[in-house]
Amino acid sequence: MATPENFYEAVGGYDTFHRIVARFYQEVATDEVLRPLYPEEDLGPAEERFRLFLMQYWGGPHTYSDTRGHPRLRMRHQPFTIGPIERDAWLRCMKIAVDEENLSPEHRAQLWAYLEMAANSLMNAWV
Ligand code: HEM
Repeated sequence: MATPENFYEAVGGYDTFHRIVARFYQEVATDEVLRPLYPEEDLGPAEERFRLFLMQYWGGPHTYSDTRGHPRLRMRHQPFTIGPIERDAWLRCMKIAVDEENLSPEHRAQLWAYLEMAANSLMNAWV
């Protein structure tokens, strides 16, 4: 049996990331804090950008950078006010998505530590 090359492969590749991000956006769609932040009426394109980013970050295909260039996530989040309320809402939606996956405790902990760190690092307001 082939040894999984990296985290992306080890947790199930495209299908796993597709499910997590789709579930996350299902929550965003009805979240009263987050939904108003998204500029487009159709959340589909935002969902795809985020899915491609996460896949690339964890060792999957580099489609995100091929199409969007350098991620520059802090810069790309500047237009949105992200304080503790927005961060907590984002993590709440993401937790639902991650908890529905059958990840090993180690993979779950690794993924969650990254998401928490990233969400904290993208805050640009403190009220
Ligand atoms: C884009 C909100 C955290 C990754 C966006 C957009 C919003 C948003 C409103 C624009 C949607 C679009 O049109 O693409 C937030 C809020 C967060 C948060 C409120 C709370 C902390 C994160 C985190 C990550 C992330 C933690 C990464 C782990 C991205 C990516 C994009 C994006 C990759 C698309 C960037 C591009 O234009 O290529 N986010 N975000 N976000 N976000 Fe977040």
